[in-house]
Amino acid sequence: MKHLISVKDLTKEDVESFYKLFLDFKKGRREFLEGHVALLFLEASTRTRFSFELACRELGLNTYYAGRGETSIEKGESFYHTLKVLESMGYRAVIFRVPFVLFPYDPYLSLSISLINAGDGTHQHPTQGLVDLFTLLEVFGKVEGLNILYVGDVKHSRVFRSGAYLFNMFGARVAVCGPSVLIPEDLSPFEAQYIPDVDEGIEWAHVVIWLRLQEERFLQSYVPSKESYFLQYGLTKERYKKLKSFFMHPGPANLGVDVDPELIHAEKSLYLKQASNGPFVRMAVLYKLLSS
Ligand code: CP
Repeated sequence: MKHLISVKDLTKEDVESFYKLFLDFKKGRREFLEGHVALLFLEASTRTRFSFELACRELGLNTYYAGRGETSIEKGESFYHTLKVLESMGYRAVIFRVPFVLFPYDPYLSLSISLINAGDGTHQHPTQGLVDLFTLLEVFGKVEGLNILYVGDVKHSRVFRSGAYLFNMFGARVAVCGPSVLIPEDLSPFEAQYIPDVDEGIEWAHVVIWLRLQEERFLQSYVPSKESYFLQYGLTKERYKKLKSFFMHPGPANLGVDVDPELIHAEKSLYLKQASNGPFVRMAVLYKLLSS
């Protein structure tokens, strides 16, 4: 495996081998790789950027970061040709976060530089999907038979698109909840059901994953007001009491909109556990892609 662009390119065996590496790295195993890795982040990021950078450095890889406005993409150079330039300089991998969807991506697969998707538009966020799956595997031992509910802006969520595929792969059931305008029209590719009422969803779910309203991707205003959205779909103190176990949020959480600010670090929250698992997940991915 050279690239990680979409979780749909992974077999269950690939994911299991990432999980084994994740656990090993978490227990303190260290391996060393050589070479240079470019981090090309054309969209903002805290968790993904800093955990990838940490993961690279833990593995002995040199990192070079460029954010939005810092490359010749600003001057009209295409993303593909930017990758070709980095490839020609001998970079081993590019970890990229971009506002556009990299699909279809067949032309990119012949590049010898490894491509690692850190989030492309509304398409995929493979390593966040792995973070969410591995966090629940750690907590529950398995996800088979679990009911997992995503609440919020599912339509624009690359986290959902990666996570739902992985949870289905490991035998969980997936449902979504949110304003109908923020739900994909066709849920069949995600093997997910729609539960319009969040309180019914909470009753059904073993784990609830709240998602941020991605206003930067809104073409029009989908939500009448954040206050009414919070009351209708957010994690309130009343709903918190009804959670069967834990809630997750890939971050960044929009406090007071997705989740009551007093609950984000409460006992049933896996928010920081997800973030703290990030570097180990990314070490596993980097090691598997770059050690062969
Ligand atoms: N979950 C996630 O991608 O967070 P960041 O945008 O902070 O990287």
